[in-house]
Amino acid sequence: MEQENFGSKIGAILAAAGSAVGLGNIWRFPTETGNNGGAAFLLIYIGFMLLLGVPIMVSEFVIGRHSQTSVSQSFFKMSGGKKGWKLMGLIPVVAGFLVLSYYAVVAGWTLYYAFLAGIDGFAGKTPDEIGTAFQSFCADPINPLIWMAIILVINGLIVALGVQKGIERGAKIMMPLLFIFIIILVACSFTLPGAEAGLQFLFHPDFSKVTGQTLLNAMGQAFFSLSVGLCCLCTYATYFKKDVNLMQDGLQVATIDTLVAICAGLIIFPAVFSITGLAPSQGPSLVFVTLPNVFQQAFGSSIVAYIFSLCFYLLLVMAALTSSISMLEMIVAYFCQERHISRPVASIGATIVCLILGTFCSLSFGIWKDDTLFGMGFFDLFDFIVAKLIMPIGGMLICVFLGWIVDEKVLRAEITNMGTLRAPYYPVFRFIIRYLAPICILLIFISQF
Ligand code: PFF
Repeated sequence: MEQENFGSKIGAILAAAGSAVGLGNIWRFPTETGNNGGAAFLLIYIGFMLLLGVPIMVSEFVIGRHSQTSVSQSFFKMSGGKKGWKLMGLIPVVAGFLVLSYYAVVAGWTLYYAFLAGIDGFAGKTPDEIGTAFQSFCADPINPLIWMAIILVINGLIVALGVQKGIERGAKIMMPLLFIFIIILVACSFTLPGAEAGLQFLFHPDFSKVTGQTLLNAMGQAFFSLSVGLCCLCTYATYFKKDVNLMQDGLQVATIDTLVAICAGLIIFPAVFSITGLAPSQGPSLVFVTLPNVFQQAFGSSIVAYIFSLCFYLLLVMAALTSSISMLEMIVAYFCQERHISRPVASIGATIVCLILGTFCSLSFGIWKDDTLFGMGFFDLFDFIVAKLIMPIGGMLICVFLGWIVDEKVLRAEITNMGTLRAPYYPVFRFIIRYLAPICILLIFISQF
């Protein structure tokens, strides 16, 4: 089957950034930061991004671009024909199904909230009404499923269209729009009275609150936010052309990703603190309950409240879509390349499976709330398996593979684009993936048990 590539360098960066920037930045990051004490968490998270996230991302790029084939074939070929490494090809498929199934649930909520914002559904509501409305929406057995299904179908259509017509074009339209919305929203949030308390929370670290759990959460957040450890970026990198500077690309994507997360904090925390009586540690409802309240209280039932909330939820929908596209792509790429199934059929089939699994996750907020496995509902269980198990293990294996198994000449050739680039950072990069990253991940991983 002919290998399709991203048509332009900017398209490749935007697609990878589209995968990275998502609900992880705008929904999960403020939740984690709020729960883990604010600025100290932010600093540790940035540390993990640089120390582990970027090197693993670049490693995934190296593997994908070097072999230009399916993940299992890439690992098989680059290991010099060791069959065991072929199993790595299962990670993106298994993790892809799991992550997309629960991600689509929250993506569905964002679409519903964009719809609510569009019909001015928050106007005149009291905080209690907004809170109860969210609870009963999540717990409803039908409504969230419809919105999740819409997201999954749009997602499936984009991926079925292919790499250039679907993924690259989608990222090229949605990512710039996302940046524009973010800038408008940050500016609005700054003008709220009492916004400084939010800035203080985000930028004034209190390290006395840092525990082992904070480290684990920050590492999980860095991995999730950069989409690393699941070989998702290996898949995207198979569509990179040979002249893409992998390290530069990785740093650019990580910078965009971190800036968006910080901007999400700059939108949310000043808004939260400017309204007395709201706490930053609201958990997952921060974005769906606290914010609509903030919009209402800050701007009343004015046109500003309407525009602010509509922009915000549209932004979330787009961020969610560009990431869920990459999740579906890792599944579809497997079935196209390994099983020789056509792209549209693979997209439809995978979408149907995710609809079924996603139904389990969605219902775990409602009628199946009490049905738990290892003390967790399906949604939390899937998130735990992906972010706390597969991502760190996958990330560690990727480092070990590239640092110890693959011929060093291959690594050097990919990082330097066959010797055409100067890469003074190469020894540091190699040291990180050989020693620092695997040991660090292992220690933090073990400490969680
Ligand atoms: N990085 C995405 C986000 O921050 O929302 C989530 C994600 C995408 C995780 C792709 C994993 C993945 F393979």
